[in-house]
Amino acid sequence: MAMTGVFSLFLRTCPAPVTLFPLTKAYIIRKYCTSKSVSDVLKLDILQTTGNIITNPGWVQAIRSHKGICFLDINDGSCIDSLQVVAKSDAMPDEITIGCSVQIEGSLVRSKSPGQSSELKADIVKVIGECNPQEYPFKPKARYHADFLRQLPHLRSRNNIFSSLLRIRNAATIATHKFFQDRDFLNVHTPIITSNDCEGAGELFAVKSANTKVEDVNFFNVPAYLTVSGQLHLECMACSHSKVYTIGPTFRAENSKSRKHLSEFYMVEAEIINTKTIEDLTQLIEDFVKETTQHVLEERSEDVCLFHKQVAPGHREIIDKMLKCNFNIISYTEAIALLEKNSDKFINKPFWGCDLNTEHEVFLVHYFDDTPTFVVNFPSEIKAFYARENDDSPQTVSAVDLLVPGIGELVGGSLREERTTVLEEKLKNNGLLDVYDWYVDLRRFGSVPHGGFGLGFERYLQFLLGVENIKDVIPFPRFTHSCRL
Ligand code: 4AD
Repeated sequence: MAMTGVFSLFLRTCPAPVTLFPLTKAYIIRKYCTSKSVSDVLKLDILQTTGNIITNPGWVQAIRSHKGICFLDINDGSCIDSLQVVAKSDAMPDEITIGCSVQIEGSLVRSKSPGQSSELKADIVKVIGECNPQEYPFKPKARYHADFLRQLPHLRSRNNIFSSLLRIRNAATIATHKFFQDRDFLNVHTPIITSNDCEGAGELFAVKSANTKVEDVNFFNVPAYLTVSGQLHLECMACSHSKVYTIGPTFRAENSKSRKHLSEFYMVEAEIINTKTIEDLTQLIEDFVKETTQHVLEERSEDVCLFHKQVAPGHREIIDKMLKCNFNIISYTEAIALLEKNSDKFINKPFWGCDLNTEHEVFLVHYFDDTPTFVVNFPSEIKAFYARENDDSPQTVSAVDLLVPGIGELVGGSLREERTTVLEEKLKNNGLLDVYDWYVDLRRFGSVPHGGFGLGFERYLQFLLGVENIKDVIPFPRFTHSCRL
């Protein structure tokens, strides 16, 4: 009816018929694109809002009736809060159940319910998709254990904790871009399929064609893998564009089901030229962790609070302490001396030359009053070929790990070996000179000191939120013996 009215008014006032279609289209777009998310509705000022509101489709979280009035809680993932919808019980469609999808048309009114300033008084409640409450796995207002939710990867985003997680992930992604963009870094998309094993640890997934019509067993003519790190590709770009970063999926075929390992995870990686000391790197990493955290706390404070209240009580203190402190720096040699003095506390006995185990990392962080701790200058034997040999002790390299409370290693980085002959020698000793000929070119053709780091995005979220298991901070976790959906 309203459209007809607009049309006739238009036909009476418009001098020429040429804009008939655009007006019609604009009208339709306005009517249907002005439907509002729950977050939009909750932000409205009740005194300034007149006329009816149409909501976006949302899902019923809870239903209750009182004295002939029905109350629905609707959530559409746009914010932590649900929108309360009220209507006469006899005006509610019979198909309304928890879990069904609905669209509401109604007016904003002041709410009498505690904790709600406004609610939507419904004129129309339209059930879009029904839901059998006997089969739906969630009950209203119930809390579920993470193990249970993990069994339902296709539905767990309907749960309030996981919904918060998704908004926090989004905010952390934006914060990452903001951090680097504010400093004039160039965002680069590094490849997912690659022919190199950047870390040299052999934890690669091979890529093969499953297309039976492709005769060539070796699709790319060379063995191809899912990337373990975008670093080497970033180095190429840094050697022409100075400061670059990427946020990409990375893959590791580690046979580990541990609470901090995934087969597919996201890594924030940066590469910067003119990085000459390990402190250049540690400062950037510290700034990144603090600034990103500040941003997420500001943008998604309610979502983060939910975690700190329900999942990890007391964890906020660790985060606040991290934001205020200067991160500690200790050399690998000093760290080993400290660990050796406490050798009786460890299953894996520490010695100079050993890789740090989680138990060692946890001890070191705890020793420094549960604040983030950089370990620098590792033995070259336990770091990848690209790490720069230290001038004053060639058996060590300028590499850095950042250890954080509750997790252990969050970041790994290094200065890169920029000296052509030293790099060639190292590659030769490892039998890698032919494979990495192109990598040596970056040194042959205008080498420049540079360095970078990689931060495990899921481990960062675990640290921020106090989540015990990494599988609960990624929408669809992949790990040994599990690739659901
Ligand atoms: O220490 P890593 O192996 O460093 C690199 O890959 C470098 N090439 C990065 C660079 O310098 N550009 O990995 C970096 C971080 C780790 O500190 C850890 O947080 C995370 O990636 N990580 C994992 N996260 C989840 N599951 C796994 N299996 C992980 N392996 C590493």
